[in-house]
Amino acid sequence: MEVVILAAGQGKRMCSDLPKVLQPLAGKPLLGHVLTTARQLEAKRICVVYGHGGETVREALAADDIQWAKQEPQLGTGHAVQQALPLLADGDTALVLYGDVPLTRVQTLSALVAAGSGGKLALLTEFLDNPTGYGRIVRDGAGRVTRIVEQKDATPEELAIREVNTGILAVPVARLRDWLARVGNDNAQKEYYLTDIVALAVADGVEVVTAHPVAHWETLGVNSKVQLAQLERVHQAEVAERLLEAGVTVIDPARIDVRGELSCGRDVEIDVNCVFEGKVMLADGVRIGANCVLKNVKVAAGAQIAPFCHLEDAEVGAASKIGPYARLRPGTVLGEDVHIGNFVEVKNSRIAAHSKANHLAYLGDADIGSRVNVGAGTITCNYDGANKFRTVIEDDVFIGSDTQLVAPVTVGRGATLGAGTTLTKDAPPDTLTISRARQLTVPGWKRPVKIRK
Ligand code: UD1
Ligand code: CA
Repeated sequence: MEVVILAAGQGKRMCSDLPKVLQPLAGKPLLGHVLTTARQLEAKRICVVYGHGGETVREALAADDIQWAKQEPQLGTGHAVQQALPLLADGDTALVLYGDVPLTRVQTLSALVAAGSGGKLALLTEFLDNPTGYGRIVRDGAGRVTRIVEQKDATPEELAIREVNTGILAVPVARLRDWLARVGNDNAQKEYYLTDIVALAVADGVEVVTAHPVAHWETLGVNSKVQLAQLERVHQAEVAERLLEAGVTVIDPARIDVRGELSCGRDVEIDVNCVFEGKVMLADGVRIGANCVLKNVKVAAGAQIAPFCHLEDAEVGAASKIGPYARLRPGTVLGEDVHIGNFVEVKNSRIAAHSKANHLAYLGDADIGSRVNVGAGTITCNYDGANKFRTVIEDDVFIGSDTQLVAPVTVGRGATLGAGTTLTKDAPPDTLTISRARQLTVPGWKRPVKIRK
């Protein structure tokens, strides 16, 4: 089987400079969703017909397993498929998909292809209460499909037909080649209609069969931002339902957004308004508080992320406690039972087991050992304006509040830094290091009083 994806059409109603098929749904281009589906079908070849939006479409989704056919100008769906014909092999079946119909299920398409096996023409059709805009499936008295008529070419009787063409079909390539050569553009839109191959198939005595999607939204296309937003919610509701079925507690399935791959262990709980991007793995018993954003993150068993945290390219160790209001930036790797509290930012740093930074700190480019206590207001001064340097804090260190560690610098095992220290040289192990002006009390000092004029 070969897949042909039609993606050359314009997306005027999106009112956007970004080509329609590149508009994101769940963080991924519409066409990217169709490509994912095509790959799951294990197609021998995937051909994308592109045109509107030009090379940006091709560049955005370039991959070794995709072949591209340019359609310029765009003269209709039949003309579009014709551009892909040189890439297809006689003897194969071509499955035609649309680049702006992102949510068709793999099972639905497999069933369609199976229905068409043995050289038949298989159409994916649907019954709609309001079929306006769609091509109608015309059947004879015996219920056999005879042709498809487009909305703009249909008679009032034909317009009353509720069975519509979704546009998705499976067809033997050799037949397709022959039929498309015979399709003209003598119709209301002066376009070469792919749908005209149906009447040609019937005339050639080729059986035309139909299959139907399980869910109505599987064949919905995107023509406007309104439809894009609607399909986004449909997709997110599906994702939430799958998580619930797998045993994840999603507090409100209407308030979760997964823009990538989210995998969860047992007894994971996700509170409202969380966004998951890229690849996120939550191990057993992980709890994510409300309003968190996690992108490419691994959270080990039993860890808790309190509300309003932002985590990106980070790893959180088992039983750790993060937030509320914490930010873990790329390169953060936390060991077991690490506590990162409110308004703490960690970047490109490793923090080993049982260490804590509970309030207001910046830890960047640091290697922090076990059982370290980082006081409130601690800052690693990792950047001199030109270069970045590392800070090393060994096991069992206690760092007093409001300390600056001017990197490169090392704090030895078991050392204590007094509050307010600006550390510019290494601090030896097991001692107190402090850089602070000695406290002074001035006897007899009086507060100034307001001068009366
Ligand atoms: C088409 C079908 C109609 C069906 C409807 C379902 C035809 C003639 N009509 O109508 O029966 O009910 O889809 O949505 O096939 N495209 C190109 N090149 C072109 C024209 C279109 O690549 O020259 C692509 C578009 O980007 C889109 C798809 O083909 O992904 C369908 O095009 P569109 O114009 O939306 O088709 P309709 O006229 O709505
Ligand atoms: Ca059209």
